[in-house]
Amino acid sequence: MKRIGILTSGGDAPGMNAAVRAVTRTAISHGLEVYGIRYGFAGLVAGDFFPLKTEDVDHTINLGGTILYSARFPEFAKAEVQIAGVKQLKQHGIDSVIVIGGDGSYHGALALTRRGINSIGLPGTIDNDIPYTDYTIGFDTACETAMDAIDKIRDTASSHHRVFVVGVMGRECGDIAMRVGVASGADAIVTPEHPFDIKKIAASLKQSFAEGKDHGIIVLAEGAMSADEFKDKLLKYGDFDARANVLAHMQRGGRPTVADRVNATKMGNYAVKELLNGKGGLAVGLENGQLATHDILDLFDGKHESDSALLDLNQDMTK
Ligand code: F6P
Repeated sequence: MKRIGILTSGGDAPGMNAAVRAVTRTAISHGLEVYGIRYGFAGLVAGDFFPLKTEDVDHTINLGGTILYSARFPEFAKAEVQIAGVKQLKQHGIDSVIVIGGDGSYHGALALTRRGINSIGLPGTIDNDIPYTDYTIGFDTACETAMDAIDKIRDTASSHHRVFVVGVMGRECGDIAMRVGVASGADAIVTPEHPFDIKKIAASLKQSFAEGKDHGIIVLAEGAMSADEFKDKLLKYGDFDARANVLAHMQRGGRPTVADRVNATKMGNYAVKELLNGKGGLAVGLENGQLATHDILDLFDGKHESDSALLDLNQDMTK
């Protein structure tokens, strides 16, 4: 192996640049050449490659977004598109690829490996929805950002004695909602994975107001229901004022936290070492804080285990 490619794919996540930097620096220090691939798998098929040098990743560990740009490219599921991509890689002498992205990106990494390009996936998504890793790159920063926004929302909620239904991202995964809900002292956390009862939530908010509380915060994962719909249903049962506030893409931006930078650096470094050992078709993760790999195929059968104890914890805080 002489030359490796690196790409970021799917929704961007803070800490992706730290991973790109770690891969680039580790690879170069082990005598490899590194090529950046712009716009994920779309750029791979288009041959949008450029040599990445150590200095290109200077001062990037602190940046949000991705210096490689990203794209969603479902077309890569087609055999002829994969073959075109592999042809581009071979023409550029690239024999391995590190893919940083969410679950869709792992399908691409596996397809490349099966077509003779050893590839390794790193979990880069704010959603924290990847099996066999406690943590995905960007999750921690997204939680910080959402928590910070809710701290501000609480100020206006208190001034007006209002309830705010705050919609957070995560697709079908409630991890952002659970962690941010606990950290924000939410009155209720609503996730797609757990049953919820809007009437009960409204009753408990009513009681809190009656007892003198001046605001209510509900943290709602986007996969459970839209924030507007939830707010409208809540208002049917409650005599309080309510607003919906969807945090949306702001959760994907901003300076990565310490945890995202350190974990991305560990994973990027580890992925290159696995490639140097001749391995491919693997997904890197952190399990109980330890770096580990799994066959990408295992991920497709596996299920991400959420820390559901956070919901019980929050219930104990709101009794
Ligand atoms: O997967 C990351 C994510 O931000 C999800 O939380 C969200 O559902 C989705 O991407 C939004 O995608 P897009 O940026 O394409 O609107």
